[in-house]
Amino acid sequence: MATHRFIVSNYSNALTSGTVSWRSPSNIALVKYWGKYGEQMPMNASVSFTLSNCHTQTKLSFEKKVSGEFDFEVFLDGKKEMGFEPKIQKFFERIAVYLPFLKDFKFSIETTNSFPHSSGIASSASGMSALALCFMDMERQMQPAITDAYFTEKASFLARLGSGSACRSVEGPLVVWGEHPDISGSNNLFGTKYPFGVHPDFEDYQDTILLVDKGEKQVSSTLGHELMIDHPFAEQRFRQAKDNLSKLVPVFQNGDLSAFIKIVEQEALSLHALMMASTPYFILMKPNTLEIINKIWKFREETGARLCFTLDAGANVHVLYPKFEKETVLKFIKGELAIFCKNSEFITDEAGLGAKKI
Ligand code: PMV
Repeated sequence: MATHRFIVSNYSNALTSGTVSWRSPSNIALVKYWGKYGEQMPMNASVSFTLSNCHTQTKLSFEKKVSGEFDFEVFLDGKKEMGFEPKIQKFFERIAVYLPFLKDFKFSIETTNSFPHSSGIASSASGMSALALCFMDMERQMQPAITDAYFTEKASFLARLGSGSACRSVEGPLVVWGEHPDISGSNNLFGTKYPFGVHPDFEDYQDTILLVDKGEKQVSSTLGHELMIDHPFAEQRFRQAKDNLSKLVPVFQNGDLSAFIKIVEQEALSLHALMMASTPYFILMKPNTLEIINKIWKFREETGARLCFTLDAGANVHVLYPKFEKETVLKFIKGELAIFCKNSEFITDEAGLGAKKI
């Protein structure tokens, strides 16, 4: 699939000033993306649940100016946030070829996260997708003829250039990103809604995020992806991810939760194993991460409850379970797992339908 379909030569309507607002959720990968090439292209296909409660809300105000340099200010929770500027500047540089109007406006980007900034939950997926959607909203005002499909695909395409996994936050509840032979429409350029049958259990899957470590990420995802270049297990990893996604296709269809649990936990531990085996090497789990994993395994064995865990590139634990287990699992989390979280904090979330215009 070629990128030139996202390049616009001229717009039909002129725009001088205005405001657009979008809310975009975070997502949690079941098959992980770890390793990239070229301009934010994934080395393997991934699939994630789009979340609901963990989201970023972004208001983009724009005013026409004399064309020149990029001109923007970023505000987090109403306060000017210079720390975000280099990342946004890089984002503007990457996407300017697809949004030729970027240099013609002065922008104010006002953003808030529903989750605490210091929670250790990455805001890049929700933040970059919310901003990409705001830009697409502007583009649609200048080119009303674009289709909804084009709008969504290009928003995801742009979000990917901000942060790879952000391209999976535009739609929901299950989104695939990366070309995979078993999944029609899947491609490296943007996320696509999982196209096949999904058992009702997976439509409102629950994710309780246990906040084990709320500090800065020990390994940035940029460095993390780089560790996969020349990684001794790279080839095997990309094959494993591909196989795991193939295995999930019938599982999503028939709701085989035992098979789902095995694949999801293996993916999480493989991601961390890759980091432990890279040069330099990292251990991103904390002792409490392991305590929680062991407790989950014990509880599952004793009760047969259908919960499992997954991890991102950090110490926090995502506890995943179908809605019919909610009461049992939340009681278990409050009674036995919350003590392993910083200030006993956790966030309850569930699979959702993607971004929304405000
Ligand atoms: O989108 P990035 O570059 O921050 O990478 C995200 C990588 C993981 O969260 C660890 C896995 C994934 O697929 O989301």
